[in-house]
Amino acid sequence: MLPDAKTKLFALIGSPIDHSFSPSMHNTSFEEKDINGCYLAFDTDEETLEDVVKSLKSLNAIGWNVTMPVKTKMAELCDELSEEAQIIGAVNTVVNQDGHLKGYSTDGIGFFRNAKENGVDVKDSSIVLVGAGGAARSIAAQAILEDVKKLTIYNRTFSKAQKLAEDLNKYTENKDIEIIAKDLSDAISLKADIDESDIFINATSVGMNPINNDSIIDPNWLREDLVVADIVYTPVKTKLEEEALKKRCKVLDGMGMVLWQGAYSFNYWTGEEFPVDLVKKKVFNID
Ligand code: ATR
Repeated sequence: MLPDAKTKLFALIGSPIDHSFSPSMHNTSFEEKDINGCYLAFDTDEETLEDVVKSLKSLNAIGWNVTMPVKTKMAELCDELSEEAQIIGAVNTVVNQDGHLKGYSTDGIGFFRNAKENGVDVKDSSIVLVGAGGAARSIAAQAILEDVKKLTIYNRTFSKAQKLAEDLNKYTENKDIEIIAKDLSDAISLKADIDESDIFINATSVGMNPINNDSIIDPNWLREDLVVADIVYTPVKTKLEEEALKKRCKVLDGMGMVLWQGAYSFNYWTGEEFPVDLVKKKVFNID
């Protein structure tokens, strides 16, 4: 439907934002679900964030997505944080309930929902996660909530992996989870950990176009019963994913996480189910 005097505002804030799929995903979904909403993107940095949030509140925006570089600062401006957002101290989704802002991080839950939709049961599994940036932190926090058995975090900058493990360990007192931080340069240890794990996740930007066409690990380390996930979605199939498919691994692609993180945001804002199949088809041209 065309916007009218009753149209509700939804938004994306962060910078840069011009390549985001979120406006197309959500506007397509509003149309499909007959929701009188409009989703717009507003370029926002740390300096302008407070003013932008004030404006969105004044305009009674129902909610907004948050991307780099304002995810952490936005968490500080929220009145309430969901469990996973508390663990990582960053949000990608805000719900405005009459001026009360609740922040969520839907990347991790989106990642694991995509895994579930692809028949991967993560409870009691052993995971090797490479990366300690925003996406990795969100996946790692959700891994705790999904009751995985072991999470080994590798990162190029070891101190960031250590910090992530420390942050996570504050929330695992009553849980039987082992969380370990390791240096990505330790290839022998990385191979041994992958040999003993059920799921391997690349949560770094390695493999992304046009930066490079590398694989974060030696493809010879892949084996058929390893689930291989990559958060990179441009290209749709990274080198890691291509090599994993050759080895007949189950592969979870980055597009699935993008779709499902959006699905959770949409549901938190509207209470409605996100039309996943339609968005796949119309926005991502996937049948
Ligand atoms: P995002 O929010 O997408 O996770 P980010 O916070 O910038 O983005 O994190 C990028 C991740 O990719 C980091 O873990 C980064 O490692 P460092 O912490 O050492 O910077 C990782 N990364 C980026 N380029 C890499 C490369 N060439 N090799 C290994 N890791 C890389």
